[in-house]
Amino acid sequence: LEIASGTGEHVIRFAAAMPGLEWQPTDPDPTRRASVAAWVADTKLRNISPALHLDAARPGWAKDHGPADLIVLINLLHLISMPEVATVLVEVAKALAPGGRFALYGPFLRDGQATSQGDADFDTALRAQDPAIGYKDMADVIAMLQSHGLTHADTIAMPANNLLLVFSRPA
Ligand SMILES: C[S@@+](CC[C@H](N)C(=O)[O-])C[C@H]1O[C@@H](n2cnc3c(N)ncnc32)[C@H](O)[C@@H]1O
Repeated sequence: LEIASGTGEHVIRFAAAMPGLEWQPTDPDPTRRASVAAWVADTKLRNISPALHLDAARPGWAKDHGPADLIVLINLLHLISMPEVATVLVEVAKALAPGGRFALYGPFLRDGQATSQGDADFDTALRAQDPAIGYKDMADVIAMLQSHGLTHADTIAMPANNLLLVFSRPA
């Protein structure tokens, strides 16, 4: 299950690299879902289902989108409010199958601080646009997911100061 698939360039790469998984892209924006369909149509991949509407900040979605062996979420949490993040994460924890993994990618604060001037500037710009949004602290995100029964399995440094946080649900 990919949450917030966006235009679809990621899911076609993932599906090609991991052909043993059936990939389910989602996005609440119909324009993005149309873009996913266009990217998928350009491939010969058969392991990508048509993109579904999913507003991951809506309570209760897990019962319609799980259990999933892998949930991928890239570049969303800094664009939504903390209460919305809390809903996303509790539903992710519910939707993840026992033994499943959650891969969460994005920019994060560390000990409340941005890790570069570019990140600090982007965070400030987001908060100027909407004071409820902006970068989240990785410690808060990890603590929330742990409180919902997930194990923090790995933190992988990615280009441009981004992180890939990996969580697992005990089998
Ligand atoms: C910055 S884009 C990231 C897209 C893609 N994951 C990427 O990294 O290129 C944010 C995406 O989140 C989607 N989005 C916004 N609010 C959302 C929500 N509440 N639940 C799920 N997706 C949401 C938007 O439609 C958009 O496609």
